[in-house]
Amino acid sequence: MKIEYTVPKGAASIDLIAGDTTKVIEDHKGTTVLKLGIGKSDEITRRTFISLTRKAVKTAKEQRLSTIAFSFKDFQFPALRATSDRELGRLLGENLEMANYEFTKYKTPPHGGFQSVETVYISDATGEAKKGIAEGQMIAQEIHYCRDLANTPGGDMTPTSLAEAAKRQLRGTAAEVSILSLSDIKKLKMGLVLGVAKGSAQEPKFIIAEYWGAGKAAKEKPIVLVGKGITFDTGGINLKPSDSLMGMNHDMAGGASVIAATAIAAKMKMKRNVVALVPAVENAISGSSYLPGDILRAMNGTFVEVLNTDAEGRLILGDALTYAERYSPRLVVDVATLTGAALIALGKRASAIMTKNQELEDLLRRLGEESGEYVWPFPLWKEYETDLKSAHADIANVPASKGTGGGTIQGGIFLARFAANFPRWAHIDIAPRMESIPEDHLAKGATGAPVRLLVRLIENF
Ligand code: BES
Ligand code: MN
Ligand code: ZN
Repeated sequence: MKIEYTVPKGAASIDLIAGDTTKVIEDHKGTTVLKLGIGKSDEITRRTFISLTRKAVKTAKEQRLSTIAFSFKDFQFPALRATSDRELGRLLGENLEMANYEFTKYKTPPHGGFQSVETVYISDATGEAKKGIAEGQMIAQEIHYCRDLANTPGGDMTPTSLAEAAKRQLRGTAAEVSILSLSDIKKLKMGLVLGVAKGSAQEPKFIIAEYWGAGKAAKEKPIVLVGKGITFDTGGINLKPSDSLMGMNHDMAGGASVIAATAIAAKMKMKRNVVALVPAVENAISGSSYLPGDILRAMNGTFVEVLNTDAEGRLILGDALTYAERYSPRLVVDVATLTGAALIALGKRASAIMTKNQELEDLLRRLGEESGEYVWPFPLWKEYETDLKSAHADIANVPASKGTGGGTIQGGIFLARFAANFPRWAHIDIAPRMESIPEDHLAKGATGAPVRLLVRLIENF
């Protein structure tokens, strides 16, 4: 969408009103006015601010308004007085754009094109607000791309196409992408990646995006972001039931999110070193699939007993975490649609975070609130390690016995073993945020989580 700062006469305007009813009227001059019910203005929080910003665009789209106008002043609420214009602007830019997104790649355009808001006219915006809005729009553009990748059907989003997409997204930025092929992956002895990849006709790829904004020679070690890149998760021989298969093209959303975060860091010219690592693999079922009970040798020498071929994400991430060691990172964050159990625990409103570092947990929670990408902590207590005891190997990928519960934590416990050499590490299980809910006021499908959180983390860490 375009944003302009002078409002032409007669533009459809947004009027924020008390109460919860939203209606469209024509005023006495014949101008369309979208009366948006926002509850009580003095009860608006950062959370409801984000939501009402999106609702404005969503309602405009529903009403087939291609332009809307409002005053920046109307978006200043008592409870947000401490929030700078720059920050408010960023929230506006991000969320106006995110609500305008539709996944249209596979739809024939109707006459007159797809319904979207083409121009937003904002009066009374300060210079700082304008900067924030532009920043927010840029961030949202990269999130759109991330959502496009996750929304793309599994048949079209293979490890090879994900690698190509990463190159395309970072082209023209100061970040560099390199792709490891099957033979490179074999040379590195990434036994976990190779195990999961065995059943697929698609060769695995290992995507590396590096952005050295603080300089490669700088004393500052990079932040490494690791993203799960399962391009489709059938479950493997432990095949998922029919109902659970739909949506599993989104199982590379973590990978797409770390690529987007790196692209944004590069585009914002952040003085930070950021590396994104994405093991891209299809978890397919065939005569060559890895088998329940197989013992795989991880890149770091750990023997892993595969008790369930559907717990594949933690396997490929294990090797990716080992690969991350070569960067001596000061911080490692992995992002993955790892467990259905996270969704059971949290519903679809927040991602689960796990870390052994209290400061990092506090920071992630605070930045979760600031960005609108909400997260909630789970423990990684040592006691849980017994859940993954293996009879014949160093560790199992799931518990040997049923009924332990704690599936999300077990995913984190497994990964922690591969993250043991990092000074700081956090795991974000984004399975709950894999697909939007109506209350998000976003198009059906991918949410782009947790890109906005990662961007703020890179900025603030
Ligand atoms: N990709 C799934 C997790 C998932 C499920 C994400 C539903 C989003 C929605 C993951 O690979 C998986 O299959 N996890 C298993 C783990 C189990 C075998 C321990 C699960 O959650 O059932
Ligand atoms: Mn799985
Ligand atoms: Zn999966």
